[in-house]
Amino acid sequence: MYEVVIPAAGQGKRMKAGKNKLFLELSGVPIIVYTLRVFDEDPQCTGIILAINPDEEEMFANLIATYKLKKIKQWVSGGKERQQSVYNGIKVLHAETDIVLVHDGARPFINHALIYQLTEAAMTHGGAVLAVPVKDTIKKATDNIVVETVERSSLWAVQTPQAFRVPLLTKAHDIADSEGFLGTDDASLLERINEPVIIIEGEYDNIKITTQEDLYFAEAILQKQRSFKG
Ligand code: CTP
Ligand code: MG
Repeated sequence: MYEVVIPAAGQGKRMKAGKNKLFLELSGVPIIVYTLRVFDEDPQCTGIILAINPDEEEMFANLIATYKLKKIKQWVSGGKERQQSVYNGIKVLHAETDIVLVHDGARPFINHALIYQLTEAAMTHGGAVLAVPVKDTIKKATDNIVVETVERSSLWAVQTPQAFRVPLLTKAHDIADSEGFLGTDDASLLERINEPVIIIEGEYDNIKITTQEDLYFAEAILQKQRSFKG
C-alpha cells in the first residue's frame, strides 16, 4: 500500500499552450485525468495528494467531479519549483503510510505492474526509480565543441514514479530545503546524502508530455493501448 504525491502545479512553458499543459486533451480527455485515473483505480493506492496552483483549484475540482475521481484526499499549493510542490505534498502524508510515490502529472502512461515492481523495491531498498536505457549517443560539449562521448551502457533516462520509504524522503527533502539545494528529481535528494536508490527498468511509453510534438506521440501511445485492450 502506498500514497502518491502528484505535482501538477507547473506552467507548461515548453509546451507553449498559454496554460497549464495538464489541461490539454488527448482524445477529448485532459492529460491529468489519465494520470489520476491510474492511481484512482489501483487498489494498492490509499490516497492521492495533488499539488496545484491555487488559481486552478476550481478547474481541478471540476475535473475531479466530472470524471468521478475518488482518491484525491487533499490538495496542497504548488511551489515555484517542482521540488517545492513535492515537498508541500509530503508534509501532509498520513502517519500510517510507509511508502510514498512521487509521480509527474505530465506522465499519463504509467501502469499498475510497474508501480508494483517499484513499491516492492522501495520497501526492500528505501528508494527506487523507474528508468529506461538511453538509446542515443550522448556527448558532452562546451560552446558546441565536443568534450567527450559518454559511455552509453551506464546511462539511464530516469522517469517517475519514484518510490521511497516515507522517513527517507522526508529527511532528504528537509536537508535539501535547509541547504537551498534544488534537484531535478526526488531521488537526487537521496543520492546527495548517500542513501541508495535502485533502478527498476521501465517502459519507453511512460513519456513526460513536455513539448508540442509529445502530443502526437501521446495520441499514438493511446491508440496502441486501446488496440491492446480491444
Ligand atoms: N510541477 C509542479 N510545480 C512546479 C513545476 C512543475 O508541480 N513548480 C509539475 C508539473 O505540473 C508536471 C511535473 O511537475 O506535472 C513535471 O514538470 P514539467 O514537465 O517540467 O512541467 P512544467 O513545469 O509545467 O513545464 P515547463 O518546465 O515546460 O514549464
Ligand atoms: Mg518544469
